[in-house]
Amino acid sequence: NFTNADSVSQECENLISSLPSEKDSTGKTLYNYQGSWYYPNTIQSILNFQKYFEARDTDIILASFPKSGTTWLKALAFAVVHRNKYAANLVSHPLLSDNPHNLVRFLEADLYVNNQRPDLKELSSPRLFATHMPFQTLHESLRDSPCKVVYVCRDIKDALVSRWHFIRKLVKKEYLYSNYPVEEMVEKFIKGAYSFGPFQDQVLSYLKESLVNSNPLLFMRYEEMIEKPEAQVMRLADFLGCSFTEEEKKSGTVENILELCSLSNLSNLEVNKTGTSTCGIAHHAFFRKGGVGDWKNHLTDDMAIKLDEMVEKKLQASGLKF
Ligand code: A3P
Repeated sequence: NFTNADSVSQECENLISSLPSEKDSTGKTLYNYQGSWYYPNTIQSILNFQKYFEARDTDIILASFPKSGTTWLKALAFAVVHRNKYAANLVSHPLLSDNPHNLVRFLEADLYVNNQRPDLKELSSPRLFATHMPFQTLHESLRDSPCKVVYVCRDIKDALVSRWHFIRKLVKKEYLYSNYPVEEMVEKFIKGAYSFGPFQDQVLSYLKESLVNSNPLLFMRYEEMIEKPEAQVMRLADFLGCSFTEEEKKSGTVENILELCSLSNLSNLEVNKTGTSTCGIAHHAFFRKGGVGDWKNHLTDDMAIKLDEMVEKKLQASGLKF
């Protein structure tokens, strides 16, 4: 079941052999670990993260389902937290010369990949990390640290369509995925067995946590960030313990951060047109159209109803309002 690209230990292989599995459309096997589906490599990364990551109380973890606004949240959180160190101008800022994914790195999808054990002790506080893992998997290794978690959530239909474009954009023409029909992606989402899925289980894990608050958790929505960016970035700063002062608000700091982190600004930077992130993905693939409702251009009403009902059913059964 393993390919050369998989770098997994014997311990991980033993664990994997006991997990539920499903084949994807290319014949690769996905495994269900702690309620979410992954390829073997990612399970190895998660095991390493769970074993070796030492949370600091000041750590900030940005969590999301893929294609839900992770890049934007990374840029905003970085700019907000470091605004005393780097003024948010359009002349010199780390976000102008590096991609948000290199400034706030993924735990399981970057730092711990390929069986690595990165030394994160040297990083100065507050450290910012990101993850696509569900809360239960993340929580286990925070080991009761009160570090903060920010979760960004997006409409399943837009996240699905975004993922579909992302996959098609990334792969070479001859590869099977370039002809990947959106129907197949919908089918996958309905079945639930796809990398980091099911969507609704992940959302539920963070929604539940936002009520329990075993870690301080801020639940954000991509749609609200699009609708009221100023209010949402101020909410983010309040939660992170670095509220904007009246003076900052008057002098346009909030607007400057939003402009710096905007889709149009970031996607037009040379670094984001040409570079490749530490997680091995071309920077340009993280930027497309943005906004709300692009699903209408790709999904039928019937698909939309099925997806919405599936999410509602899961969240309603938990008694939580979404
Ligand atoms: P679309 O494919 O709908 O355009 P992620 O960052 O989680 O991978 O999500 C990618 C989605 O967020 C893409 O959506 C992308 O265009 C959008 N996005 C990336 N950067 C953004 C930004 N600065 N502001 C708003 N949306 C952004």
